[in-house]
Formats: sequence, structure tokens, C-alpha cells
Amino acid sequence: MAMEKRGPIGVFDSGYGGLTVLKELVNRLPQYDYTYLGDNARAPYGNRSFETVYRYTLQCVEWLFGEGCPLVILACNTASAKALRTIQQNDLPRIAPDNRVLGVIRPTTEVVGNYTRTGNVGVLATRGTVLSESYPIEIAKFFPELRVYQQACPLWVPLIENNEHDKPGADYFVREYMDLLHDQSPDIDTVLLACTHYPLLKDKIAPCLPPGSQLISQGEIVAASLADYLQRHPEMETRCSRNGQILFYTTDSTEDFNSHAATFYGSGLQSKHVPF
Ligand code: DGL
Repeated sequence: MAMEKRGPIGVFDSGYGGLTVLKELVNRLPQYDYTYLGDNARAPYGNRSFETVYRYTLQCVEWLFGEGCPLVILACNTASAKALRTIQQNDLPRIAPDNRVLGVIRPTTEVVGNYTRTGNVGVLATRGTVLSESYPIEIAKFFPELRVYQQACPLWVPLIENNEHDKPGADYFVREYMDLLHDQSPDIDTVLLACTHYPLLKDKIAPCLPPGSQLISQGEIVAASLADYLQRHPEMETRCSRNGQILFYTTDSTEDFNSHAATFYGSGLQSKHVPF
């Protein structure tokens, strides 16, 4: 029998944010190859319509399949909320029935109930993710007894992308959305950072939480979930190449990507351009 060609694990995000997820994937599973694609030319996705997010995400997934990725992780909450299901159900069977696309919402909602004592969970996300109701719907499947309070934080992504997140001015906008979240319920004891960018504001968000609260970012959870998935799916694991090589692509300027990426990834990197 001919050996099936192996390929890198594809990691997709609207821009830089998914690098916070990729970083944790590489920490946890350094043996695999990864190809990262950031659709910076069309980011942010957070306020875009379902139709647009779906169309852009599908185009990026097809590009990653073309690069030989048998498995693609949508490391973007907005894309996971608005495009994943349609791609899995309608497009995959047609374009690449043996390939898989996974998102970041399911792994997080599977475990979020293990953190809370009061049963009140806060979800901080882009407006698109909040409006999709994906988090309350998915959390209810695993932890139907939990009460989920969502807060859209539309100014946080621009703050981070403009390198203002560790400046004093960011405190005001962090406090504003945290107050709006706690106004919904003072009993929230677990807050989920349901946007790729928000871990960069962690140091400012944490002091806004009541003592004893849990602040959860997704990277490590998604990495643990991928490790588990690959163990349960040897037919996919054997199709993932293992040279520890990481390639970075952006749909916008590579210079911008390289200079911003260090903030999200923690080290300098060199990207290539994809013309969409
Ligand atoms: N990556 C997006 C997310 O996780 C945030 C940035 C955007 O709005 O494109 O929701």
C-alpha cells in the first residue's frame, strides 16, 4: 500500500491573534510541523457578517489544504463561531472528505464548568462571537446548570493591535468592559478569554476580578485538546508530518506581520505573503 503523504497542521486566524494559540500548540506538541495563515488583509473579523466570515475562512482553509495540511485548526473564535459548522457539514465532504477542521470553542466549553464554584461564568469575546451565541449554546451541552454571561469588548482588539495594551490608557477600557460584565452578575467567579487577543490583556484584567476568581485563556486548553484528538485519531496523526518546522503566511504586508508577531508569539519570525 502506498504511504499517504504527510503534511503540516494548519493553523488559521483572522490575523495575529491565533499566534497565541499556535505558541501553546508548539509548546505542547513541538514534534509536528505547522503552517500558520493570518488573513491580516481582511482582519478584524469580529464585526463582520456570518456570510463574510464564512467566505473568507473557507478560502483560507482551502489554501491550507492546498499546502498539504490534512488538519486545520481555526484558532480564531469568530471564525469558529461563524464558519466552522458550515465548513464541517457542507464543504468538507465535497472538497476534502478525509481532511478535518477543528475550532477553539468546543475544547474550551468542554472544560469551563470544572473551574467555577458559583456556577456563573463570564465570556469575554468579539461582538461577532457574542452575537453568534456559540458559547452559551455549547456550554449548555456540557454543563446545562451553568449560567453564562457574555460581554463584547470591541475596543480591545484595536488596542492590542496598536500596541496600546500595556499602556495606562488601556486600563480605562479594560475596567469599562469588566464593569459591564460584573453588572450582569456579581457572582461570576470564572471568566473566559474567548478571543485570541485577550491573553495579552491578562495582567490588566486579573486585578478587575473578585479574589478567588479564575481567568481562563484558551491556548493551553486547545493544545491539550489537540494532543487528545491526535491520540484518539491515529489515522489523522499518521498524516501529520513531524520535523518541528513552522511556516508563517500572511495575506497582508510581511513586514507588518513580522514586527507585530513578536508581541503575540514571543519571538521574532519571518513570514511569506499569500495574495488573496
Ligand atoms: N481572532 C479573533 C477572535 O478570536 C479576534 C480578532 C478579529 O476580530 O479578527 O475572535
